Amino acid sequence: MINDLWYKNAILYCLSVGTYMDANGDGIGDFTGLMRRLDYLHGLGITAIWLMPFQVSPQRDDGYDVADYYGVDPRYGTLGDFVEFTHAAEQRGIRVLIDLVVNHTSNEHPWFKEARRDPHSKYRDWYVWSKKKPANANTGMVFPGVQKSTWSYDEQAKAWYFHRFYEFQPDLNTSHPEVQAEILKIMGFWIQLGVSGFRMDAVPFIIATKGPDVRKPEEQYDMLRMFREFLQWRQGDAIVLAEANVLPDTDMEYFGDDGDRMHMMFNFQVNQHLFYALAAADTRPLVKALKATKPRPATAQWGLFLRNHDELDLGRLTEEERQIVFAAFGPKKEMQLYDRGIRRRLAPMLDGDQRRLELAYSLLFTLPGTPVIRYGDEIGMGDDLSLPERNCARTPMQWSNEPQGGFTKSEKPRLPVISGGPYGYEHINAAIQRRHPESMLNWTERIIRMRKEVPEVGWGDFTVIPTRDPAVLVMRYDWRNNWVLFVHNFDAKPREVTFSVGLDGDNAGYGKQLVNLLAEDHSRADDSGKHRLIIEAYGYRWYRVGGLDYLLRRTEVDAPLHAKTG
Ligand code: NOJ
Ligand code: CA
Repeated sequence: MINDLWYKNAILYCLSVGTYMDANGDGIGDFTGLMRRLDYLHGLGITAIWLMPFQVSPQRDDGYDVADYYGVDPRYGTLGDFVEFTHAAEQRGIRVLIDLVVNHTSNEHPWFKEARRDPHSKYRDWYVWSKKKPANANTGMVFPGVQKSTWSYDEQAKAWYFHRFYEFQPDLNTSHPEVQAEILKIMGFWIQLGVSGFRMDAVPFIIATKGPDVRKPEEQYDMLRMFREFLQWRQGDAIVLAEANVLPDTDMEYFGDDGDRMHMMFNFQVNQHLFYALAAADTRPLVKALKATKPRPATAQWGLFLRNHDELDLGRLTEEERQIVFAAFGPKKEMQLYDRGIRRRLAPMLDGDQRRLELAYSLLFTLPGTPVIRYGDEIGMGDDLSLPERNCARTPMQWSNEPQGGFTKSEKPRLPVISGGPYGYEHINAAIQRRHPESMLNWTERIIRMRKEVPEVGWGDFTVIPTRDPAVLVMRYDWRNNWVLFVHNFDAKPREVTFSVGLDGDNAGYGKQLVNLLAEDHSRADDSGKHRLIIEAYGYRWYRVGGLDYLLRRTEVDAPLHAKTG
């Protein structure tokens, strides 16, 4: 049955162990601390954790520079602690996905050290070398402004090596059969220790052809099927969630026509256009992005997100759209990054205005896909722009108004806890918000609970319902003879909208009644079958179509599998 696919209707929460909770007082979060917070996460209602890199690493890119794929960085604990953690999560019904960073290693990885030292070592071919400086060495940087080139000279090897990211992250030669076998081995290892899958880092670069003569890298999509097959042989319900900021016309290459490649991908297209819609109160490009990313195999799912640990990349917007988002959410140079994005957290971008935060989160929970929450956003945490690059949005979780926000007993956490000002831990913390029914935290808990009772979003098919107002988005989901409908007003002013639910035939009658799931104002259609509502500034509505007897009407089978493709 298709609804066995847990990831299609999950609530994902992303965190890094180093900034969540420090149990042993050394200023760095650890697995023991994270384990103690599992009850908090369980109470929030999330169903899966995406754990950022925690393997042995010199930490020059927050762990995205791995020096041993088979070990836990001692700063975070031991392998034993890790297994205790996955076990404790499983006991609470929470699945764990971990980052799989195999496009590159750290330059301190023993493979790279060996490769540099000995041209005859088998590891030499595990990386990408050139005797001469390649002509395109100064192109294709992922971190423009910080990263100078994609090829660097290694004195010891007396050759140039390729690095798509920072110079301390040499690219693995991912076309090499031995490297591929090693990637599978790494996956198999962590699967055995209790994880349910991987957030695969930098997928387009993993599958791209690499080398000094490669002018235009080409994607080898077949590799994706190999990863999936291996994983499913080992553990049937394990998944890969791909980080691939690609254009919609290649989405199906990543998912596979038969749903035989990636289970999930982050929807960067919707993410960027959503921020444009929030900035401009214009949903038209967002609707286009929703439609463009609609085709996908029935077994595949989008990962929906607002902010993540990187910059908000606006590279796929038009210049005009991008400038509008910059002006609204990141007008100062220090808020921007890599000439294409904004490095702030969500709450400061939205001026800490709870109406707008709720609007953004209501969208996250009702746009097509599985929502991915960034730790701290559930309490509206801020950023620290004095920290370099993306570190500004990676500060420790703010648990209470005790010293260091209750994150650590140490006086010197590795990254400073945000203190003072509107986003300081003194005001913004989980403990205070627990006591206030209307806090962001309690709102988030309630909305997650409701989202779980609206499986139509995860399983169903969506239609954007036309209104004449670009500031208002109306969407309906259909699944198993049930329908839900969501209305979002992106404008700072109240709007009046008129629409019909759009059900026909035997079901047309149900469309006359909309039952509000979050408040008392329900809607009845007029004689012509149209609903007219006034929706307040930044307002949102979650409706059940036809009444609360929906579960009595739900059918037990899905529409045919292929109905959702194309
Ligand atoms: C994408 C990750 O999200 C980012 O944080 C990292 O720097 C690069 N990949 C390189 O691994
Ligand atoms: Ca610690």
